[in-house]
Amino acid sequence: MRNVKLRKEVGGFVGVKVYTEAELKKILERARPLLELVRNGVMEDFDSYAMWQAHVISQRSKCPSRQVGCVITQGKHIVTTGYNGPTTGFPHPLVCKRRELGISSGARLELCPCAHDVSNAISQAAKNGVSTYGAVLYTPTMPCTLICAPAAIGAGIKRVMVLSKKEYHSDPEAIPTLEKFKYAGMAVDEYHGPLGELLVALNAGMRLKSCDDTIEAMSVGEFIIFEGSEKCGKSTQVERLAGALIGEGYKVLTTKEPGGGFPDCRQKIFALDPEDPKLAQKELALFKEDRTEHYRKVIIPARKEGKIVLCDRNWLSTKAYQGYGRGMDLKMIGIANAEATQGVAADLIILFDISPEETLRRIKKDNETKVTRFEKEPQGFHERVRQGFLAQAKEDPEHWIVLDGTKSKEELALEVQRAVKEKLGL
Ligand code: TMP
Repeated sequence: MRNVKLRKEVGGFVGVKVYTEAELKKILERARPLLELVRNGVMEDFDSYAMWQAHVISQRSKCPSRQVGCVITQGKHIVTTGYNGPTTGFPHPLVCKRRELGISSGARLELCPCAHDVSNAISQAAKNGVSTYGAVLYTPTMPCTLICAPAAIGAGIKRVMVLSKKEYHSDPEAIPTLEKFKYAGMAVDEYHGPLGELLVALNAGMRLKSCDDTIEAMSVGEFIIFEGSEKCGKSTQVERLAGALIGEGYKVLTTKEPGGGFPDCRQKIFALDPEDPKLAQKELALFKEDRTEHYRKVIIPARKEGKIVLCDRNWLSTKAYQGYGRGMDLKMIGIANAEATQGVAADLIILFDISPEETLRRIKKDNETKVTRFEKEPQGFHERVRQGFLAQAKEDPEHWIVLDGTKSKEELALEVQRAVKEKLGL
């Protein structure tokens, strides 16, 4: 037997694609609320960790049902992972009818229901000189009887961990996977760990009725937030980007805060007494209430529908205005923000940076009656807010881009489009 080369993490090879750390980080970030569960204790339980990773890899798949990720482990190490993405261009047979696949009714359906995740992982391990002998295979669905089950047997896998032993028979005449595994002396266990119900629910949700439904469900909408001080021009840029993306055929939702959850919240916030010693706390409470509803009712459903969400201000403003501007504890604001956003992270934050002098100059040009309570704040406040935004951008350069808000609308629109293309590939 060859020496086993152990890989400690999921990085490296996934199927036949090499993932960068940043790509993996992004996959995990999308599922931040679930990842929190893993972090909060479940992480110690290796089965949960491996099962979770198999699910995460499924999400990367190009296969419409996305139930096609697997992880192969030796002891407490992931040695290789697989998914079907690059190899099969087929719609998934679980969700597509023979007619849709162009298979005549009499013909045998020989497509693999698990779409080669296991066989991909095994061939990848072999290519890298990693032995899978005696290894454990974690996969949400039972490996298919025609390709993946024989591959797993041949690779010396000793134990298979699945969410459900239920099999999908791509070929009803073939010997079922469970029987093949039994004959080969392989143990098959259902995973009932702490993430069990969650993963079963996620998997069930992914088993969709028709091809159209599945293709729709494949796209997880990107979430872009526009931020900046007063009068920085972000609202115009939200509209411009929305127009450009719609023109390219994307489904787009534009929204804004405050008022995204409860439309009357804006007025309530502006009407607060500026002399009130509890002003900052009252502002924070109102922004949080509005945001919680905004995510629940608007942002989360739109993203699930695959829409690109463009939002004018969000929780980053709370940090800049109530945190840096009013001096509230940043940790407390962080907790309020985490609760309100329900774990949803932005894919990109675009900051339009302008100096406080420029802010005040632009405010002055406005009709006196339109000037809001925040706009009436002194220059020092606007300076702290600006620094608050810049500090956040510096902390997380991967997700932020800072644009010079004094440039013309046309120039900025082009820069925004370029950034969206570079960072998100849209
Ligand atoms: P605007 O949407 O017209 O820019 O007005 C909203 C005002 O509310 C703006 O002055 C910034 C302020 N604000 C905060 O202080 N904290 C927040 O969390 C948000 C979303 C806005």
